[in-house]
This record gives sequence, structure tokens and C-alpha cells, in this order.
Amino acid sequence: MLPIKNNLSKLIRFKNSEESRLGYLRLDKNENIVPFPATLMKKLQKAVTADFVSAYPEVDALYKKLAKYAGCSPDNIYLSSGSDGVIKAVFEVFVELGDKVLILSPSYAMFYVYAKMFMADLKEIFYDNDLVVSVDKISESIRSVKPKLVCIANPNSPTGTVLEPADLEKIIEEAAQINAIVLIDEAYYLFYPKSCERLISRIPNLVITRTFSKAFGLASARLGYGVGHKEMIDCLQKVRPMYETNAYALKFGEILLDHVPLIKKNLKVLQAGKKYLEEQLAAMKLPFFKSYANFVLIDMGTKGRALRAAEFLKSKKILAKTGFDFLPLQRCIRVNIGPKRQMAVLLKALKQFLAQKIIAAENEMVSV
Ligand SMILES: Cc1ncc(COP(=O)(O)O)c(C=O)c1O
Repeated sequence: MLPIKNNLSKLIRFKNSEESRLGYLRLDKNENIVPFPATLMKKLQKAVTADFVSAYPEVDALYKKLAKYAGCSPDNIYLSSGSDGVIKAVFEVFVELGDKVLILSPSYAMFYVYAKMFMADLKEIFYDNDLVVSVDKISESIRSVKPKLVCIANPNSPTGTVLEPADLEKIIEEAAQINAIVLIDEAYYLFYPKSCERLISRIPNLVITRTFSKAFGLASARLGYGVGHKEMIDCLQKVRPMYETNAYALKFGEILLDHVPLIKKNLKVLQAGKKYLEEQLAAMKLPFFKSYANFVLIDMGTKGRALRAAEFLKSKKILAKTGFDFLPLQRCIRVNIGPKRQMAVLLKALKQFLAQKIIAAENEMVSV
């Protein structure tokens, strides 16, 4: 047996799926499914010269453009491979053996992985069956647990829920008073535009993580960033790999930041698709949870039916996420939003699923 570190020997990681998802209607990973316009693709292709390919990545231009976009200085930014890379850096810098890490649960899968990787003592505050968690409960936990790190995704995944800015500010203040680090994961920023960014100049303990994978639609490139006080960013820089990420991600990031109005236009198309999906689900009497992110949790009634629905959708070349552990979500399939046309494809398949004889018979049994 190899002399693996103790904490890692118990860490189980699943391989990323080997089956290609390309060619499916991809609604399972909260990606942006609207293709980039050809003009943007051409700009990227033009940038990829032989010189570009053989040179190490150049990061400066993106730091400057991002700072301008985020309304801060480049000193307030930490670039990384996805926002996942920033989250890992936060654990690496601040979490030692036995340190308490407080999270709202369920949340982003990598919080749990990094807690194990860095030997933290994970403390979870669970959402209730209506996906609500009280701010008082969070404050109380901060006071009693005295965590080293608090991680809150806002909006959260997989619940799609948010804490209002005033509540979040209260929590951040409370945690900072005991010198805890607060990581606010804003992966779904722009879908929910309320950020706690303005607090970074005042609270060095706060780090906000953002990504190009969701609203900017660049999941393949692995590009994300942290925003924080210079003191926080200087700490994160200590664990930076030689280069923050690859040159293609950096270049595409730059190109996208030159086209923010296009991203915002795309966002409107997606929000219209979401509204349409929600209206149609209501008309079909299929319950769903309100979400502030780019996905919707559809309640299929039972865990078994959720699994069968996802299988049925796959047979129609549509991918949906299911198999959540958390009780109210076990009954759900989660689909990310897309333009109206693609939501119509999903809805048609869902109607076909519900019209199957076996489902109709199950419904009759329930109503008897
Ligand atoms: C809440 C949350 N945080 C972070 C991430 C990771 O995003 P990235 O692609 O930037 O690593 C995700 C991805 O789904 C997410 O849902």
C-alpha cells in the first residue's frame, strides 16, 4: 500500500463521467447552453497563434479587465482555475487539522471534499424541508461553534436559495468579530445580482468567489476568481500555482469581458426561458422550488419517479440531474435553464413521461 496521508486515505472521489455529454440537451450541470456567436469564436481562434500556443500564460491583461469590471483594483483579485480553485486556495491557506468549518447543508460538493482534504471538523447547518435556514440559527452557530471558516454559497447549489444582503452582512460581521474567514460563493452571480462585494474594503476576513462557468458560459475553460481585501488576496497568492490558469481560459475571459452587453443579453434570454418553464410547470401542476440561480428543482413526487424521469429524459437526449441525498431534494430532478425553445423540448418530454400508463396508474392509486 502506498504511504498516502491519513486524511486522504478515507477520501473517496468519483471519476468524472466517461460518457460524452456533447450532442445532448445538457441540463444537468448548470452550464450555459446558449452557443457563443461565431464572431466571438473567431476572435478566440485569431488569438491562438503559434506564438501564443508555445508561450507561458500572460495574466496581466485579465487582472486589469476584471478589476475594471468588478470595480476594484487588481490587488483585490485572485485568478484561478474555476472558482473551485479559489475555494481550494482558501482551505489551503486557512484550514488546519481539526479547525471547524461551518457550512449550510446541502451545498456545493467541493466544500465537503476540501473539508476532508484539509482535515477540518465540518459543522453543518441543515436547510429545513422547505429549504429555509434561519439567520438566527446561523448567527447562533457562529457564536457557539467558533469556526475558523464559514462557507456560504449565495445563491446556494443545489437548493437555489439565497440569503438577503442585509442578513448576509450580519452573518459576515458576526463571523469577522471572532476572526473567522467568510467565503461567499457567488458562482451564480448575475443570475442573482446582489453581491456583498462592497464589504471587501472594510472586512479583510471576507472572500467572494466568482466564476466564468455560469453566466459567462465558459465552463470548459476553468476560469474563476476571488475578490477580497488586499490582505486576503495576499494570503491566497501564497498558494498560487506557477500560473493561475491556462492561456486559452485567460484569453477567452478577456474577450468575454470586452462583450459584457452580449452576456447580459444572453442572461435575458435565459431568464425568459426560466419564466416560461416555471409557468408551464405550474400549468402542468408539477411543483418546483423557487430558485435564484440558473436551475430549477422540479418535484416529481417520489425519489423513484425522479430517477425514472431522469432516465426517460436521457432516452430523449436530455440530461437532468437527480439522485440528491438531502430528503426534500430526493424527489427532484434539477434542470438548468435555457432559451424558451429548449425549455419547450424539456417540457414536451416531461409531458410524455407523465402520460405513460405506469405514471397515470400511480397517480390514480395516490388519489384513491
Ligand atoms: C455553488 C457553486 N460553487 C462553485 C461551483 C464551481 O464552479 P467553477 O466551474 O467555477 O469551478 C459550482 C459549480 O457548479 C457551484 O454550483
